[in-house]
Amino acid sequence: MNTPENSNTASPSARAGAAANGSIAGASTDWEAHWQTGDTPWEKGAPSPPLLDWLTKDQISGRVFVPGCGSGHDVRAIAAAGAEPLGIDLSPTAIGRAQDFPRAGAEHYRVANLFAMPPELVGAFDWVFEHTCFCAIDPSRRSDYAAAVSAALKPQGRLLAVFYLDPGGDREGPPFGVSREELDRLFGPHFETLDDYVPTVSYPGREGRELVRVLRRR
Ligand SMILES: C[S@@+](CC[C@H](N)C(=O)[O-])C[C@H]1O[C@@H](n2cnc3c(N)ncnc32)[C@H](O)[C@@H]1O
Repeated sequence: MNTPENSNTASPSARAGAAANGSIAGASTDWEAHWQTGDTPWEKGAPSPPLLDWLTKDQISGRVFVPGCGSGHDVRAIAAAGAEPLGIDLSPTAIGRAQDFPRAGAEHYRVANLFAMPPELVGAFDWVFEHTCFCAIDPSRRSDYAAAVSAALKPQGRLLAVFYLDPGGDREGPPFGVSREELDRLFGPHFETLDDYVPTVSYPGREGRELVRVLRRR
């Protein structure tokens, strides 16, 4: 698949490197090539720790949209908690990997582009779970991201997001960090903020660099 947001002429390994923050140089990224060559420094083999922490205390229920789900660790954690998640990803290889895992519950996967949402997914979800999709897209598309996840939700639907405040290192992203102020500006027109905290659990190396926000669609 070659779309404006994932095309890139350099080889993945030439661009990816092994930066401490797992960054991948280049303004746009060929995600399918990364998955095909196993050049996936973001892949931790386990769900997001802040998501697991959330699921021990709170609920995500109903239909849940997970954009940029990769190999689906977060999708399966949400399914195991009893919800019905749909993970989408641009990369057919990523979705194939996700589908190769044993089922955890009522999860589904689909190859799709967040910026060209299939019409039947618009307004279809009770929740969106964001983790390392927002930080992966080109920052020039962040307003489009906020509009797309808002459009995926039913009225009053909620967005649980683990944002990357500061990926660290000195390389250009992805991952691209974001400030609270920018999040307010991007998501404020679509959502009200219900909660905002720096998680006490993270993957090693991401401690203090992430931000959990719980937002409700206006
Ligand atoms: C950094 S990876 C993170 C994957 C997964 N969330 C994780 O944490 O393991 C970003 C993922 O987003 C996907 N992606 C990037 N742009 C996308 C878009 N416009 N629509 C759907 N998926 C996208 C990529 O293919 C890639 O698998």
